[in-house]
Amino acid sequence: MAFQLPPLPYATDAFGEILSAETFHFHHGKHHNAYVLKANELIATNPELQGKSLFELIRLTAKSRPDELFNQLGQIWNHSFYWLGLSPQKKQPTGKLLGLINESFGSLDNLVEKLKGEAVGHFASGWAALNLIDGKLDVTSYHDADTPAAHDARPLLILDVWEHAYYIDYRNVRASYAEAILRHAINWDFVAQNLDGLGLTRADQPG
Ligand SMILES: [Fe+2]
Repeated sequence: MAFQLPPLPYATDAFGEILSAETFHFHHGKHHNAYVLKANELIATNPELQGKSLFELIRLTAKSRPDELFNQLGQIWNHSFYWLGLSPQKKQPTGKLLGLINESFGSLDNLVEKLKGEAVGHFASGWAALNLIDGKLDVTSYHDADTPAAHDARPLLILDVWEHAYYIDYRNVRASYAEAILRHAINWDFVAQNLDGLGLTRADQPG
């Protein structure tokens, strides 16, 4: 079985001006799909890689980086997790998640500013991320196709800061993209769900 492009959990025009249908057409339909197609092409040439889950192959190929297959696999996982972390309906963190945010950062506004700073400050392509470490929230970033799935991370949320994520709607202004997404389009219910430590499994798929 080959890896699949996961369907988006919302319509491509659901985000209005925050993220356009054209962005989804290119970002999900072209970029994310290209990583899936290339990974399947590379796996088809090597029987030892077949039948393993996306997560298993990421852990395997991470050891031999720089690795062309790792880059495709990392990007499949990262994009799959990224889409799940977005919501066209504005949501707010509540309950245990809000308590952890206040404990770790003082307020939701502070967390948003820290994530935005990580997103804007990350040089070139990569991912800003919110992880759970020892029961506390932690903001970090991953470069290029590196992924929480290659590390012993407990991911809660990732934000794509590759230029292809924002160039259609925000041109070169990464800060405006990060601000709009973080303030208006985060699926905080998904973030809260990942407090169970099973975030890595939510963007996995069988080989
Ligand atoms: Fe992307």
